[in-house]
Amino acid sequence: MRIGIVNTGNIGRALARAWLAAGHEVMVAKDGGQQKLDAFIEQNPRAIRGTPGEAAEFGDVVLFSVYWPRLDAVSGAVGPIDGKIIIDTMNPLQVSSDFEHFYDAAFMARSSTSEELQRRFPRARVVKAFNTIPSNLLDEPLRWFAPGSLPAVFLAGDDTSAKVQVRTLAQDAGFTALDAGPLTSARNIEQLNVLVHLLADNQFEGASDRIAPAVAVAAGAPIR
Ligand SMILES: NC(=O)c1ccc[n+]([C@@H]2O[C@H](COP(=O)([O-])OP(=O)(O)OC[C@H]3O[C@@H](n4cnc5c(N)ncnc54)[C@H](OP(=O)(O)O)[C@@H]3O)[C@@H](O)[C@H]2O)c1
Repeated sequence: MRIGIVNTGNIGRALARAWLAAGHEVMVAKDGGQQKLDAFIEQNPRAIRGTPGEAAEFGDVVLFSVYWPRLDAVSGAVGPIDGKIIIDTMNPLQVSSDFEHFYDAAFMARSSTSEELQRRFPRARVVKAFNTIPSNLLDEPLRWFAPGSLPAVFLAGDDTSAKVQVRTLAQDAGFTALDAGPLTSARNIEQLNVLVHLLADNQFEGASDRIAPAVAVAAGAPIR
């Protein structure tokens, strides 16, 4: 399968590695500084480099993994994504004027990042996935979990055949996927990620590398 990744950050790099290893063709792209992408391409020469617009055009599947406050700017640089699958990994983390990150509760009460993406790309088949899986878990799953007992990836989307394909891509990255229903269920999955962060902060002492067990607790998976 051809997969385009917009923007390729922590999550995009980890999934690109997994999908390249599974034999997919992957185009990686990001706006802004290119240094992290340069290093990624050097270590993963089968990855193809493109602009965000080129990656969206290249992929049968387009992974949207954009820092949420950047969505308008990035999606404005991408043409129509008609008929294709968009996987949305985003969480609605906003940034305050003093650079503190916070979940935008008012936004979360009425929408989700996935529904916003669907509005921007009305003829794409948007599927929520991977937003509750922290990048350190994607990078080193066996540090945290026994083989075969990784926490699930939760899916939401209105197009059943798109969810079947995203389920396969989750399996290619080592995960099982559980279907939470229509795209509006993305709201609930984004709320679950708020719980994950609360668990990481309180049950696991706020250590950022302890977020993986917090996910496991939220998803009911056994940890080592
Ligand atoms: N990290 C996680 O564990 C995790 C887990 C699940 C879902 N998510 C969600 O998935 C999406 C991508 O996450 P990620 O961790 O992969 O993102 P990231 O690496 O922090 O950033 C993704 C892209 O946005 C750019 N970016 C980051 N901060 C920015 C800023 N302040 N201003 C402008 N551009 C910025 C990055 O560029 P640079 O690389 O040049 O900074 C990169 O191209 C987000 O919506 C996030 O909420 C993250």
